[in-house]
Formats: sequence, C-alpha cells, structure tokens
Amino acid sequence: MKWSPLALALAGPSQAALRFGCSTVSIQRLDPVVQPGMVPSSHVHQIVGGNAFNATMTGDIGEQGTCTTCTFSEDFSNYWTAVLFFKHQNGTYKRVPIMQNTALPNGITGGMTVYYTQQDFNSNGNQKITAFKPGFRMTVGAPTTETLPEAKGHIGLRFVCLDNKGTRFPELPDFPTKSCKGGIMTVHHFPSCWDGKNLDSPDHQSHMYSTTKEAFQAAGPCPASHPVRMPQLAYETLWDTTQFNNMWPSDGSNPFVLSYGDSKGYGTHADYIFGWKGDSLQRAMDSSCMFNACENGRPLKSQGVAEMNKCAIKSSVTENIDAWLPKLPGM
Ligand SMILES: *[C@@H]1O[C@H](CO)[C@@H](O)[C@H](O)[C@H]1NC(C)=O
Ligand SMILES: *[C@@H]1O[C@H](CO)[C@@H](O)[C@H](O)[C@H]1NC(C)=O
Repeated sequence: MKWSPLALALAGPSQAALRFGCSTVSIQRLDPVVQPGMVPSSHVHQIVGGNAFNATMTGDIGEQGTCTTCTFSEDFSNYWTAVLFFKHQNGTYKRVPIMQNTALPNGITGGMTVYYTQQDFNSNGNQKITAFKPGFRMTVGAPTTETLPEAKGHIGLRFVCLDNKGTRFPELPDFPTKSCKGGIMTVHHFPSCWDGKNLDSPDHQSHMYSTTKEAFQAAGPCPASHPVRMPQLAYETLWDTTQFNNMWPSDGSNPFVLSYGDSKGYGTHADYIFGWKGDSLQRAMDSSCMFNACENGRPLKSQGVAEMNKCAIKSSVTENIDAWLPKLPGM
C-alpha cells in the first residue's frame, strides 16, 4: 500500500458527500463480479453507470467507458442490484419498474441513487478517506440468506415501505407485509473498511469489513485487520409497485419477489465495480463539497439528465423480461 506523507498530512476535519442519480444503463442477466464470463448469469440485474459494463470486466474501468448514466461524467463505475418482480395470483411474473428518487433533477429514467459519504454526512471523523483503486470490486448481502435473524444481521440492507418518495423510516429487514402507497425502496450500504491489499477476494466480501450502522449514522472505527477507511458507498432503488396494489393477493401474502426467487427479501444484495477516472473520486473525498455543489468542475465534471439517459448498452442476453412471464428469467 502506498501511503503518501502528503495524504497523511491532509487528514483533518472535513465534510464531503456525493449523492447523485444514475439512469438505467441496462437490465439483463449479467454479473461480472460473481459470475464473470457467464452469459446469461443466473438472475436479472438492474445496472447503472458506465458503458464498459459486460460479462467480463478487468483492468481500469475508468479508462474503458465512453459514457455513463451517472451525473458525474468521470464516473464509469457500475452499480447493480437484483430486479424486483410482481407475482400475480395466476402464477405469472411482471417486472416492477424503477422510478427516480426525490431531490434529484427531473427526468432520470429509472436507475438508482448512489451515495459516497465519509464517516457520515457531517464529517470524515478526522480520518483520511481513501478512494477505491482501479480494479476494485465488492458485493454486499447474499442471495442464499434464508432466515430473518441473518437478514437482521445484514446491517444497512433494508426495505422501506414508501408513503411518498421522501419516506425513509422505518427500515425493514424484509419485504413490507402490506401494500405501500408510494412504492418500495431497497437500500444497500456497503462496507467501508479495507484490508489495504486486495482489490477483490474469493467471496467478494472478505477484503472489506462493515462498521456501518443503520440509516446513514456515523460508522464505527475500522478494525486492525481492515484499517483503511474508504468512502461509505450506498444505493437507494425505488420500485414503483403502486400499479400492482389493486392485485394484492386475497390471503394477504407479499406478492413481490426478487429476481432470484426470494419472496422474503432476506437475500437482498448489491454489487460494485469501481470505475472513476484518474483521481476524481479521491479529489471529491478530499474536498468539502456536498451533493450537487460538487458538480460543474467543483471539483467534479458533471452532465445533464439528457446525456445521462442517452448512455446505454446493447444487451448481451436476448430474452423477454417485460411480458407477464410464466417464470422468473433463469429460474
Ligand atoms: C462485451 O464483450 C463482448 C465479447 O468480448 C463484445 O463482443 C461486446 O461488444 C461487449 N459489449 C459491450 C457493450 O461492450
Ligand atoms: C395473469 O394476470 C395478468 C394481469 O391481469 C394478465 O395480464 C395475464 O394475462 C394473466 N396470465 C394468465 C396466464 O392468466
């Protein structure tokens, strides 16, 4: 690991946080982290970010993308999570559309909201926040999770039953058990303590350690095994379940299911491949900008919604994911 004396000297109190929208770049069955090279992968993902997204992704992604669906135009990272489906009582499945978040510029098509915070929204806790490195990747959560206690133990992986797009509480470890007036939000907070050595690990998790607390509270200190504080990455994804509310099953059971067949939500998970160009993410973390004040070159280059929405990739997997389907794709 290369600590520069200058970087250490710079660690002091500061406040910086990114919060931005990314429109959908693709919805398909690919997973370059967990199932690299597999076309199709086992289940459908909602993907945002750079157009270098593919079944196999190696090297410096920041040098490979030519466009991105995110506000910050030097961010060619990819962010993804499992897609939500509605299961009708007649046995067929329909993909739930994604809606844009509150407090973002209008017109973003689908997508996700991405956060990079420091120790919390207010402070870096007097620690250097070290940006991810080219080649870095990680996952959070596990589709194989089968019990509520395990799901509760996945701090920061939560569901919110929305009254409106601004609803943030309560955070639930599993699917809401009633229909939600304003949709369902899934929230994924990644771990932010790094072992300082590995860009990935066999389970895509053990090179990182989570001291995350619920709901964007200040994270606890990093342990000696994972001493390097990195940005606290989080996703919010808003599912527009409202069009299905009048088809809620008469027995009261939850009709929503994640793309790998999980009707409880215990296995909610998300994936990340770092792809910021050059030192752009580090410059943002070393600055003191908040949210859209980081745009327009202060210090990050940014783009408008029309340009974000224009960036897309051709699916490597050709299958219908939008009809009323007799089964979940790949299941
Ligand atoms: C994905 O990789 C394949 C095989 O290398 C290539 O043919 C295709 O153009 C790539 N797709 C994108 C969107 O870059
Ligand atoms: C199931 O219900 C949906 C919604 O009403 C309908 O569009 C679809 O055709 C139905 N499918 C079957 C097999 O009954």
